[in-house]
Amino acid sequence: MKIVLLPGDGIGPEVVAEAVKVLKASSARFKFTLEFDEALIGGCAYAATGEALPARTLDLCRQAQAVLLGAVGGPAWDHLPAEKRPEAGLLKIRKELSLFANIRPTLLYPELSFLSCLRPDLTAGGVDFAIVRELTGDVYFGRPAGLEVRSGLRHAFNNMIYNEEEIRRIAQVGFRLARSRRKKLCSVDKANVLEVSRLWRSVVNETAAGYPDVALSHMYVDNAAMQLVLDPVQFDVLLTGNLFGDILSDESAAVAGSLGLQASASLGDSSFGLYEPVHGSAPDIAGQNKANPVGCVLSAAMLLRFSLGQEQAASAIEQAVRDVLKSGRCTGDLARKQAGMEIVSCSALGDLIAQAV
Ligand code: IPM
Ligand code: MG
Repeated sequence: MKIVLLPGDGIGPEVVAEAVKVLKASSARFKFTLEFDEALIGGCAYAATGEALPARTLDLCRQAQAVLLGAVGGPAWDHLPAEKRPEAGLLKIRKELSLFANIRPTLLYPELSFLSCLRPDLTAGGVDFAIVRELTGDVYFGRPAGLEVRSGLRHAFNNMIYNEEEIRRIAQVGFRLARSRRKKLCSVDKANVLEVSRLWRSVVNETAAGYPDVALSHMYVDNAAMQLVLDPVQFDVLLTGNLFGDILSDESAAVAGSLGLQASASLGDSSFGLYEPVHGSAPDIAGQNKANPVGCVLSAAMLLRFSLGQEQAASAIEQAVRDVLKSGRCTGDLARKQAGMEIVSCSALGDLIAQAV
């Protein structure tokens, strides 16, 4: 089973190294073989080749079962034109590999509910929901997009556009995930204002006919942003377009306690997937062995589950993360939450999780 590692920029290499440690521990325990390859993406790829996503990287990924990515971006590359920016490499790999479905779980265990940024009574029983975010369309990719001068004024524009097929296939992912969980799907849109949201809502309603066992609701995105912090426990699966999902998934990270805990899977029509923590490259702490590796470790668990069919190994990693955090050891992003938590380094936390596995 071949995995391509794309450590990327900033803290990416540090967290990917810990995830690999944990993957190796799980393959030893559950007796399967993993083969790792490594390639460049983002700012480091631009520095080495002039491209944020070199052709060699894409070729290697196409030959693998799964890809584990760290993070891209940093101040050194902020001045670059849009198409050379590290973020362009990330958007391109998602698009080129047709990874249209991004799954971002928020899981706050009851015994760790103090980690949440919300008032304790709102999360006391734990929180467990997932965002299914469309990843290859919307205003991120819509054309025309650009900057031009009209009547002496600079105008900039992007195009929020979806076709019904793009909406249908992501809605199906949402319904299927809800079916495997608590059978509630909340579709997020701005149908009171946007044409594209009105199409979104009607296609989601049409798709619902195939999933009579799933309870479908609709929510405007502004209200969803509020409900996530007022009463996050109400949600099971949230279905969103690309932009709304980007925004709500960072908000969800505060519900869980830290962006550093959040994992994601980007999937297409096959079992191939790209897995990455939701956090970015965090240039302020890069190279200091301070980053929280849990988001990347849990992304690796999703990789084992969705792309390699190693459910037992995936669960063992999730349980190991839970046990280590419960034992009171964590990285600095979480230590402020409760007196008595011991701050350990990125690599020490990775060691603890690997040992627990
Ligand atoms: C994310 C990130 C990316 C996105 C950026 C880095 C392009 O914020 O994965 O959420 O907007 O999708
Ligand atoms: Mg984001």
